[in-house]
Amino acid sequence: MKHVLITGATSGIGKGLARYYANQGDTVTACGRNTEILSSLAQESGVKTKAFDLTKREEIERQFADLDELDLVILNAGGCEYIDNPNDFDGHLFERIMTINVISIGHCLDIILPKIKRGGQLCIISSSSSFLPLPRAEAYGASKSALSYLARTLSVTLKGVDVTVVHPGFVETPLTDKNDFPMPCIVSVEDAVGYISAGISKRKREIHFPRRFTLFLKLLRLLPFSLWLPLAKRIARG
Ligand SMILES: NC(=O)c1ccc[n+]([C@@H]2O[C@H](COP(=O)([O-])OP(=O)(O)OC[C@H]3O[C@@H](n4cnc5c(N)ncnc54)[C@H](OP(=O)(O)O)[C@@H]3O)[C@@H](O)[C@H]2O)c1
Repeated sequence: MKHVLITGATSGIGKGLARYYANQGDTVTACGRNTEILSSLAQESGVKTKAFDLTKREEIERQFADLDELDLVILNAGGCEYIDNPNDFDGHLFERIMTINVISIGHCLDIILPKIKRGGQLCIISSSSSFLPLPRAEAYGASKSALSYLARTLSVTLKGVDVTVVHPGFVETPLTDKNDFPMPCIVSVEDAVGYISAGISKRKREIHFPRRFTLFLKLLRLLPFSLWLPLAKRIARG
């Protein structure tokens, strides 16, 4: 039986992962802000819960203080907002997204890494949007690119903990429900949980799915920027 800590466990991918590991018989500590959802998750799946805002460092310190000997930490919580008009750049939006998607991860790492068992695992949920500069993703894509860089660097430098970075394509969750554009190859939360849990159990350094989508993006990423630019401008025009 493992002890798994998951952030962003009140919704979408994180909630699916919390249910999956609880059903496997693992001890799950599920984090989020929504106390109602956390209590129903506790009743339904027997998970332990921690309700707090990850953008507040002192909250992270307080909530993680009693944790020890973790086998797997999944840093999944995140948010997405789009920059609709980059000529009228919204610095506050940029700060909100960087704070939850990047800065909070730094504070979590500082506090949680010493609490992961030797030989344990750290999984960071980034996004395939980090592969290419995409219209409206100036904030979200930049935050996820930073996260992927961080995770990959930790894979190289961290001793005693294996790091996995996850690059999902589109997954049907409240985060994507808001999108008003076509989402090619979108997958269900159940499928996303299947891909992520299988990759974690194999200690893969990178998990990306669905491959028909992420491999295509990885291929496009090989293009020189001068060739990608006109294509991206066409996508931006719609
Ligand atoms: N869905 C996709 O297509 C997709 C694709 C690529 C990557 N991802 C990434 O996958 C992760 C999960 O996304 P999702 O689609 O499952 O999103 P979601 O359904 O919107 O869930 C986001 C989770 O993050 C938590 N969260 C957000 N801000 C928080 C804060 N300040 N403090 C504490 N918790 C906070 C939310 O908790 P509360 O609501 O309780 O505050 C919620 O549990 C994100 O990092 C996202 O960027 C998603």
